Amino acid sequence: MPNTPITFVHLTDLHISAPELSDKHLQMDTVAATRHSLSEIRRLAKPPSFIVISGDLTNRGDQASYEVLKRVLETEAPKVPILCALGNHDHRSSFRAVFEPDSEPNDMPLDYDRVLKGLHVIVLDSSLPGRVLGGWEAGQMDWLGTRLKKHPDLPKLICSHHRPRISDGDLAWSCLTIDASEQLRCAISGQNVAGILTGHVHMDCVHHWYGVPVISNAGHHAGTDPVAYPQMFNMTDAAGFAICTLHASGLSTNFVPHPQTRHVLHEVDPSLLEHVEGAD
Ligand SMILES: [Fe+2]
Repeated sequence: MPNTPITFVHLTDLHISAPELSDKHLQMDTVAATRHSLSEIRRLAKPPSFIVISGDLTNRGDQASYEVLKRVLETEAPKVPILCALGNHDHRSSFRAVFEPDSEPNDMPLDYDRVLKGLHVIVLDSSLPGRVLGGWEAGQMDWLGTRLKKHPDLPKLICSHHRPRISDGDLAWSCLTIDASEQLRCAISGQNVAGILTGHVHMDCVHHWYGVPVISNAGHHAGTDPVAYPQMFNMTDAAGFAICTLHASGLSTNFVPHPQTRHVLHEVDPSLLEHVEGAD
């Protein structure tokens, strides 16, 4: 772990939607919510070392929405590295067309890594095109194994949209598949992984998974109400982000909620979600 603390910001589930889409599936003004988080980050006494965004960058995965996101980040985010992961609402080639315009169009998983302030950050694409649950395509875990060995002395941070399956009670749509979770567990065992930053569930939460903290936050589109869940799957006006610091003693997370009423925007019987991969 680092001798000097490293502070960074974790954003997730922006669900940005271009105004011309008139997206009826949105429960909130997600552009405004994202702008609010960025304005809060600009108020920090010291800019974060970097920002990680753990997927569902857009709601429809269309290029126009990625263009909106790019403009918002360029104009309103602090000038620090921003690492984006993709979620089930994203689209790989649309993302690349906007954020990597010089690269060859392709639909390969968006996996990459960076060393920032002595922290090895690894972004994994857990999206499976057309599905809501998470998993890995062929070769991704081999790539992860290779990258984990690249900087053996550095602490590692992993970012993926889906969290691993924590317990048998996890609904299938809400996490990685059982096999993908086990593959991740084997890959990171003993590799000095300080934490896994995730999204998808739209809820402030920390799980300790075989000794590694798995962290998520409410995001920017309809938080999941933790009191009603899992008896009733309520989506409220909750939103927010997190400020994380990696200390020599481990990873700390401070959640930063937006003002909220907890008014229920959308209510679903969770039994309807048990066998459905199509809702988040
Ligand atoms: Fe989401």
